[in-house]
Amino acid sequence: MLNLAIFGPPGCGKGTQSDFLIQKYGLIHISMGDLLRNEITEKTDIGLKAKSIIDQGLLVGDDLVTQLIERRIEKGAEKGFLFDGFPRTTLQCYILDGILANNNTSLKALINLETPEVILIQRLLERAKISGRSDDNEETIIRRLQEFKEKTLPVIDYYKKRNKVYNINGVGTIPEIEQKVQKQLESII
Ligand code: AP5
Ligand code: MG
Repeated sequence: MLNLAIFGPPGCGKGTQSDFLIQKYGLIHISMGDLLRNEITEKTDIGLKAKSIIDQGLLVGDDLVTQLIERRIEKGAEKGFLFDGFPRTTLQCYILDGILANNNTSLKALINLETPEVILIQRLLERAKISGRSDDNEETIIRRLQEFKEKTLPVIDYYKKRNKVYNINGVGTIPEIEQKVQKQLESII
């Protein structure tokens, strides 16, 4: 199994780079944002609880996202998983490592797309014109970025201690970043 996590602040390109990663390595894409938005569309209990939190640009509770991640991992994967937007808190790191260990596997690498805030805001405001995402507006984008710095950055420390963090400069064209990610992964796998 090859399990990877694509990590970084809102707008760094996690979803964009996931497209090539799942194709190249045959991985199952687990985007926590997509799973949550799906729950909202389906008006499930989790979706009803998550909606106003997402609209405020805050993180949904660890208990709710854990239910979704467990459910998805239980379905299995032939070659491995690509985690996008998970883990996002230190507790979620412990939870993910625990679930993977129970399945006799582990996270191979966390790809950290380092991107300056000014570029993130530009990209998200541009996407806001077409995305239809309720959290793509200036006020919520700023909140999401704050939440990332306060609650999500510690994820890097957790995996650094375990020698699993690979930093990639997230500035450049989409194919340029794809190439950098691929080159980095070739040296690991
Ligand atoms: P989520 O959906 O994960 O949103 P996010 O992390 O804010 O990130 P985005 O999806 O907005 O950005 P991205 O990094 O995927 O970039 P993208 O490729 O789209 O989460 C949404 C919410 O759900 C959270 O705020 C939280 O409330 C909740 N949630 C999710 N996971 C959770 C968890 N684990 N725990 C608790 N709560 C959770 O690119 C962005 C734009 O830039 C696109 O338009 C793209 O085309 C463009 N772009 C990408 N790369 C480039 C490039 N190199 N050059 C130019 N443009 C580019
Ligand atoms: Mg995304």
